[in-house]
Amino acid sequence: MSNNETSDMGPIGVFDSGFGGLSILRDVRRELPQYDYLFLGDNARAPYGSRSYQLVYEFTLQAVKYLFARGCRLVILACNTASAKALRTIQQRDLPTLDPTRRVLGVIRPTAEQAGVLSRTGHVGVFGTPGTIASGSYDIEIKKLHPGFHVYGHACPMWVPLVENRESDGPGADYFVKKDVDALLSQSPLIDAVILGCTHYPLLLDKIRRYVPEGVKIVGQGDIVARSLRDYLRRHPEMECRLRRGGACEYLTTEEPAKFSPLASVFVREPVDASHVTLV
Ligand code: DGL
Repeated sequence: MSNNETSDMGPIGVFDSGFGGLSILRDVRRELPQYDYLFLGDNARAPYGSRSYQLVYEFTLQAVKYLFARGCRLVILACNTASAKALRTIQQRDLPTLDPTRRVLGVIRPTAEQAGVLSRTGHVGVFGTPGTIASGSYDIEIKKLHPGFHVYGHACPMWVPLVENRESDGPGADYFVKKDVDALLSQSPLIDAVILGCTHYPLLLDKIRRYVPEGVKIVGQGDIVARSLRDYLRRHPEMECRLRRGGACEYLTTEEPAKFSPLASVFVREPVDASHVTLV
């Protein structure tokens, strides 16, 4: 495939700072297997979680431009940190000049919608990276959709490194997951739903389930984003008809593919043979 696609049809682009977006990709492909996908992980510069707004925005914009140049008509930011810190600026400031017919979608809004549906008490907890929690994006989105809700955030700076270092099944993960679950839930006894507001966190789901009390719902993102994309494409046939069909999936990383591919296959539960790209 050339670096600058000119055909009117293109794959769905899925971007994350690292591996986490693969958990979203897997669920999206299960829901919409008919399309082609192009995944890009900026692993060489991950994690984004504690980076400044400006850097997350610049890196995310580079990724979006790259995926557009590779023919993507639609790009999903499968990263809460990028969705929190870069999505709005890209949609409002960059897309009109880059190409107003293309779209960039994030993961926070559909998750916020669903959390509102799942909570009975109106008290919702959010686990996320320091960047996502500091941005207040979940608080803003949930309250926009469900005024009167209470949103409690808690940053879990160790969860992404645990996953990236393949320690999600180890005893260190138990220690940090319990500590962070307790810290979030201690903010209010009324919390009855907790959002996994980072695409890495599904890899810690077994541990999270162990420490979150039974009556509290755990809201993951993969299914929610997949269903939301399906609905979006139903409502936007002008976009749907520009998505290339075939069911293929290509993986790109800014890291060495030999480092990326083994852990990537853990996320997507199938062999991954990635290619290296440089973002500028
Ligand atoms: N996967 C990213 C997210 O959903 C977090 C990883 C990172 O810190 O880069 O926020």
